[in-house]
Amino acid sequence: MNILVSGGVGFIGSHVVTELLNAGHNAIIVDDLSNSEITTIDRIKQITGKSNILFYQEDVTNEATMKDIFSKNQIDGIIHLAGYKSVGESVSKPLLYYQNNILATIILAKMCLEFNVANFVFSSSATVYGDKLSPLREDMVLGSTTNPYGESKVISEKILSDLVDAHPSLKVSILRYFNPVGAHSSGLIGEKPKGIPNNLMPYITMVASGQLDQLKIFGDDYDTVDGSGVRDYIHVVDLAKGHLVALEGLKQGLSIYNLGTGRGTSVFELVETFQRVNQVGIPYQIVERRPGDIATCYADTSKIKNELGWEAKLSIEDMVRDSWRFFAKQESD
Ligand code: WQD
Repeated sequence: MNILVSGGVGFIGSHVVTELLNAGHNAIIVDDLSNSEITTIDRIKQITGKSNILFYQEDVTNEATMKDIFSKNQIDGIIHLAGYKSVGESVSKPLLYYQNNILATIILAKMCLEFNVANFVFSSSATVYGDKLSPLREDMVLGSTTNPYGESKVISEKILSDLVDAHPSLKVSILRYFNPVGAHSSGLIGEKPKGIPNNLMPYITMVASGQLDQLKIFGDDYDTVDGSGVRDYIHVVDLAKGHLVALEGLKQGLSIYNLGTGRGTSVFELVETFQRVNQVGIPYQIVERRPGDIATCYADTSKIKNELGWEAKLSIEDMVRDSWRFFAKQESD
């Protein structure tokens, strides 16, 4: 199929496009390169040995531009990944997050109706569960997300749910990511945030390389195995494969799936694993809790396993090894 991937040059997007090409699909990428680099496209081609990627450096929220792209290409499906994703930044710039993240979903949904595209996979986030108790299940009533980023995902999910109610022939799958980390084993694509990272794994890699002097661990007094925050880290390659399974398994109506491992890992456990596997020290300091953080978040992964036969296969050791390999390769290139 010809699949339009919004945000297809980004950390998640580049891994999703890689899996699409590996499976014989064609990718049409729309990405404004606000948080990604165009060299990633050549690296995807290098990894896959394929070149059936069409790239548009455009803003998905520009309806006229998107109409032009859809009128020039036979699009069979959409994987919508484009969006701003920093929780902290969303609190200081709510309008930017609401406009960008929600309007992008609306524009792509309109393209589905206007160009008869029935297949739609949407990138959502475990953030939508708010402070609900883990393991988190797709049929839970959603919690309060405490930030505009999370709210933009809740609202986008609602938009897609109402769209399917009005157009039952559409096939929509909402994928709720837990904590994507790691990188393709080639070391050619991975997570390369611009500036100081918000998330734990990229921060750890920058401390490991000496670019940052120490990791600040946000609290060790949570009610968890060792007091530090527990999260469901999922390898980005597993996550990407989950998108392919969701796309090829689309059925009429709306489906919602957790993309996680079902296992929780604490900050201390992740730091220890990174140090042990990569033989590198991570100096750290324990500081105050980060506002908005919850103690524990991990998935119930039974629904996607039972319905689509998918489960994550890569380990925390794979995640820290692949993250470090990508980071070290960037430094040497
Ligand atoms: C993980 C753990 C922190 C940084 C967010 C978004 C979520 C998704 C993933 C987009 C927590 C601790 C972190 C640091 C630390 N993003 N930590 N020091 O907050 O679980 O999820 O990113 O989809 O939607 O909410 O991820 O990596 O920021 O934090 O101690 O410098 O690491 O307290 O326990 P989070 P994270």
